[in-house]
Amino acid sequence: MSRLTPPPRLLMGPGPINCYPRVLSAMSTQLVGQYDPVMTGYMNETMALYRQVFKTQNQQTLLIDGTSRAGIEAILVSVIEPGDRVLVPIFGRFGHLLAEISERAGADVKTIEVPWGEVFEPQQIEDAVKQFRPKVVAVVQGDTSTTMLQPLEHIGAICRQYDAIFYSDATASIGGNPFETDVWQLDAVSVGLQKCLGGPSGSAPVTMSDRYLDIVNKRRHVEAGIRNDNHRDGNASRIRSNYFDLPMIIDYWGEERLNHHTEAASMLYCARECALQLLEEGIEQSIHRHQIAGRAMLEGAQHLNLRVFGDISNKMTNVVGVYIPEGIDGEAIRHSMLHDFNIEIGTSFGPLHGKIWRIGTMGYNARPDAVYQTLQSLETVLRRAGHKLPLGEAVDAAYDVYAKANETSELTAAKEKAPSIKAVS
Ligand SMILES: Cc1ncc(COP(=O)(O)O)c(C=O)c1O
Repeated sequence: MSRLTPPPRLLMGPGPINCYPRVLSAMSTQLVGQYDPVMTGYMNETMALYRQVFKTQNQQTLLIDGTSRAGIEAILVSVIEPGDRVLVPIFGRFGHLLAEISERAGADVKTIEVPWGEVFEPQQIEDAVKQFRPKVVAVVQGDTSTTMLQPLEHIGAICRQYDAIFYSDATASIGGNPFETDVWQLDAVSVGLQKCLGGPSGSAPVTMSDRYLDIVNKRRHVEAGIRNDNHRDGNASRIRSNYFDLPMIIDYWGEERLNHHTEAASMLYCARECALQLLEEGIEQSIHRHQIAGRAMLEGAQHLNLRVFGDISNKMTNVVGVYIPEGIDGEAIRHSMLHDFNIEIGTSFGPLHGKIWRIGTMGYNARPDAVYQTLQSLETVLRRAGHKLPLGEAVDAAYDVYAKANETSELTAAKEKAPSIKAVS
């Protein structure tokens, strides 16, 4: 075997995507000991940064070591006791994952579903909550399998009214779509780095409200070997996972520095850098960049004579689904994009398998040149496969989206610079 020399791919699928170069550099930074004050200082900084990313005052905002589903599993397994009711509105693959993890934790799970390509109205969720009276309502925000973004802003009030914990998996959407933990009254949120945050998978930032912690802390149980006389068990049942036991993890991140696990330091460096990058750019600015890139890709795809999948009014900014045209071999196109142009676009699964491609524009890759390259290559590959399309229009359509966005932002900047009437008078 030789040294690693992966080809210079442009990852334009539904995630993972190419990392921000600064994130890659951060990951290769030398380690310090896990209780070195420098390291615990980085841990505290990471908590503070992710409070801003999640838009929350929650003290308990930290990283779970593992991919995004580690965050999901930690949140669910720590709160669910066997027999607890959990409601999962499913509008794509990852809703099924929330239901699956809840079932494995012993929950009595009720699911409601809409067809892939749609999202729920708040009334549908309220009706189910009223009838089922769950302890937890678990909803994905952006489900890359369908490209849909579930509006969450009305669900928090419903959960408060019926005394349910409101949890969302925002792995695929945070940083590129609006997300408001406190304003939307979320009790727990988990995410990953490999989408709009522009990192690799392997660290799952989470945040937890006091309402959530009131329940979870009753299950506190410190493992033998690190227990001391000051540790008191909670009066509810012990959490069924040691690795994802949030009270112990919280004590590792807190003043006690309980020796629960060895923090994945390189991933912490990486998660910290992803948050810094987002906050330095500005969350609103990042969302705007994703909106423009997503629109440019969507309009470009339409000019390739491709039909867009799903309800566009509820689409995530950062991924678009397009139907594979009749008579075209979807996998042959993806193969040619990858091997002739070094560009990866996504396949799909479940009911959409073999029907749509998913094209992402997120994180580091939400850039005009990445959009233009993808569209231009796709045009060539599709044309050579016999798909009828108007030549040259896709990239031009994408250029137009960027030109319009620049005009609008120049106008806004000019207006902001102009002295207000009040200032003049
Ligand atoms: C919404 C959502 N949730 C969960 C996951 C699972 O993430 P991971 O593969 O990092 O565990 C993904 C991955 O694409 C996702 O998009």
